[in-house]
Amino acid sequence: MHETLIRDFAMDGRVAVVTGAGSGIGQEAACVLAEAGADLVLADINADGLAETARLVRERGRTAAPLPVDIADRSAVDDLADAAVQALGKVDAWVNGAGILHPFAILEAEEATLDRLLNINLKGTYWGCAAAGRVMKPRGGGAIVNISSAAADNPVAALSGYAMTKASINMLTRTAAVEFGSFNCRVNAIAPGFVETALVAGAYCDEQGRIDPERREAFLRDRAAATPLGTTGRPRDIALAILYLVSDASRFVTGQVLRPNGGVVMP
Ligand SMILES: NC(=O)c1ccc[n+]([C@@H]2O[C@H](COP(=O)([O-])OP(=O)(O)OC[C@H]3O[C@@H](n4cnc5c(N)ncnc54)[C@H](O)[C@@H]3O)[C@@H](O)[C@H]2O)c1
Repeated sequence: MHETLIRDFAMDGRVAVVTGAGSGIGQEAACVLAEAGADLVLADINADGLAETARLVRERGRTAAPLPVDIADRSAVDDLADAAVQALGKVDAWVNGAGILHPFAILEAEEATLDRLLNINLKGTYWGCAAAGRVMKPRGGGAIVNISSAAADNPVAALSGYAMTKASINMLTRTAAVEFGSFNCRVNAIAPGFVETALVAGAYCDEQGRIDPERREAFLRDRAAATPLGTTGRPRDIALAILYLVSDASRFVTGQVLRPNGGVVMP
C-alpha cells in the first residue's frame, strides 16, 4: 500500500482509551488500534477480559494499561481519563464501547432493569464523552467514537430499553460534535448490525446458560437472511470502522453515525 495512505490511518504515537475492552467489539477495537500503532488504555468491569486484551495488545508490540472501571460511575470514568493521562501522557482517541443488552417487553418492564440500561449504555457513554472532551480540550483535539446500534433505527419487540439508549447515543454524538468542534475534537458513532459476541449469546443459550449449537446456527442464519448481504458481522468489521473514525482518514467527519450492518437498516 502507498505510504501516504498508510499514514492516513496510522495511529503511531497516539493513545487510545477503549471502554468495554474486555470482550467482543471493544477487544477487537483495541487489537486493531494496536496494529495501527496506538498505545492503549483498556477499561472494563471484567478484570479477566481486560487481562486477556492487554495480552493481545502487548503481543502486537504496543503498551497496554488495563484499568477496571464501572462506566456507570461518573467519578470512576473521570478518574479513568486522569489515569490515562497519567499512565500514557495524553488521550488522542476515546472509544465508548461498553454496553449491555436486556431484552424485555414494555408491559413486563422492571424499573431496576431499565435504570441499569440507562445508567450503563446511555449515561456511561455520556460520562465517557465528557471525560474525553475534558482531557482532549487543553491538548487541542482528539476523536471520540460512541458505539450505538442498528436497533436505534429499527424498532424490535423486547428491545425498547436497549434501543432507546442507542437512539439517545446518536443524538448525544451530534450534540457533542457541535460542542467539541471548536477545540478540534471530532465525535462520531458507529451503529453495528448483528455481530456474534457474548452480548447476544443469550438469544441461543439453553436454561443453564450454555450455547445450544442448533439454536445458535438457526439464529445466525436468520440474522444473516435479514441483511441484503446475507451475512452477519465480525468484531473486526466494526473495529476497522472505529479505526477510520479515530484516525486522520476521517479528519472532515464529525457528528455522523456510521452503519457497518450488512444493510439491515438504511435510514
Ligand atoms: N454484538 C452486536 O451485535 C452489537 C450490535 C450493535 C451494537 N453493539 C454494541 O457494541 C458494544 C460492544 O458490545 P459487544 O457485542 O462487543 O458485547 P460484549 O458483551 O462482548 O462486550 C461488552 C463489554 O462491556 C463491558 N461492560 C458491561 N458493563 C460495563 C460497565 N458497567 N462498565 C464497564 N464495562 C462494562 C462488558 O464487561 C464487556 O466486556 C456495546 O455497546 C453493544 O451495545 C453490539
